[in-house]
Amino acid sequence: MAVPRVVLLGPPGAGKGTQAERLAEHYGVVHVSTGDMLRDPAGTVARLGSEARASLDAGQLLPDEVMIDLVAERLAREDVVRRGFVLDGFPRTLAQAESLTRLLAPDRIHVAIQLQVPSDVVLARVSGRRLAAGSASRLDDLDEVVVRRLARHEEEVGRVSGWFAERDLLVTVDGVGTVDEVTGRIRSAVDAALPGPRGS
Ligand code: AP5
Ligand code: MG
Repeated sequence: MAVPRVVLLGPPGAGKGTQAERLAEHYGVVHVSTGDMLRDPAGTVARLGSEARASLDAGQLLPDEVMIDLVAERLAREDVVRRGFVLDGFPRTLAQAESLTRLLAPDRIHVAIQLQVPSDVVLARVSGRRLAAGSASRLDDLDEVVVRRLARHEEEVGRVSGWFAERDLLVTVDGVGTVDEVTGRIRSAVDAALPGPRGS
């Protein structure tokens, strides 16, 4: 049977990471988060140096070629191939979306879930995360950077979600509600998109 291959789209603070963890556990797939990979102390940004770090902290996208190489390497690893994945933070540009077709061939994404959460709600969630993390908080969670990340997301979202919609792979899910409620909505959408019967 085909292993699940799911993409989670949505603005900063939409709950992609929170929901991806839960989906990974439920479906037994690997949570692949580009943000986590970049922020890992031994990860890409540490290797690339100060320019990449400055982009990350300022809420700017890193170059497509860097991101595509990073994701290509991760998706080719044995655990992802065997178990499938939920992709969080990628693709963010058309070039990244196109690269998925190439990287996965002859397989494909089963569904792209677009989490819809209004800006005032995501701003409140991100400042809550910053308070909870204290001195370990992300520099890109400072209010003015979050506003910039939100504006950037507004520009990119139509292109990337349009790319999935054209391929009949886009499902929009309301991301407002309790974490459990949102998980339930996403799981219904994923179950409907996966081939063959699956467990609850
Ligand atoms: P990335 O790490 O992907 O960040 P993001 O998209 O801005 O999203 P966040 O991680 O901030 O939010 P989230 O949606 O995961 O929400 P979370 O679950 O944490 O990217 C960071 C940076 O890396 C980019 O700006 C860019 O520089 C670079 N980058 C990454 N990928 C790239 C790419 N492909 N190309 C180029 N550059 C790239 O939830 C947020 C908070 O809300 C948490 O505190 C959580 O507990 C809470 N919460 C979640 N759900 C709920 C709920 N239902 N109710 C109440 N609270 C909730
Ligand atoms: Mg995240």
